[in-house]
Amino acid sequence: MDCTQAIRARRSVRRYKKGAAVPPEHLHRLLEAAMMAPSAVNSRPWEFFVVENEQTKEALMQAHPACRMLETATLAIVVCGRPDLQPRHNFWQQDCAAAVENILLQATDLGYGSCWCGCYPAQPRTDDVARVLATQAVPVAIVAIGVPDEAPPAKGYYDPARVRYLR
Ligand SMILES: Cc1cc2nc3c(=O)[nH]c(=O)nc-3n(C[C@H](O)[C@H](O)[C@H](O)COP(=O)(O)O)c2cc1C
Repeated sequence: MDCTQAIRARRSVRRYKKGAAVPPEHLHRLLEAAMMAPSAVNSRPWEFFVVENEQTKEALMQAHPACRMLETATLAIVVCGRPDLQPRHNFWQQDCAAAVENILLQATDLGYGSCWCGCYPAQPRTDDVARVLATQAVPVAIVAIGVPDEAPPAKGYYDPARVRYLR
């Protein structure tokens, strides 16, 4: 699958084959893709929590009102911002969003489904998710990863009305 195909094939998947394996080499590819995202002044203001145990997944579902898909997902990658690593700028949210999108596209290429569950700036979920992870970093998104057990239709589409050409 090339980049063009991955962008078009990606969907938010909310039902997965429970118990399906994500081998360590695939998990590494996902995290590598995340950390290859661009970041302001190359500050890389992020930190990643890989949640595989059921107890912590359950705690995340309690902390975040819209991530019930973790019930069947094999794992979650929680992408967290580290504003302290970017003291002279405030682009860390965007940097983390770029990392999230890279994870989604890499997951698609590897044949996994994924779902971006936003945290920051919504409260109290951001603080609640940070508490579950016992971190000072700022949770930006919980990304569910697993083998899809549904094939949702595409929701994204090209809308020419959203484009202005300055020629
Ligand atoms: C910032 C952000 C936050 C999101 N948060 C959630 C969420 O909490 N729960 C969820 O099920 N989906 C969440 N989504 C997924 C969107 O609902 C989904 O991307 C949108 O409906 C378009 O569908 P598609 O991803 O299949 O193209 C989020 C997406 C983004 C970009």
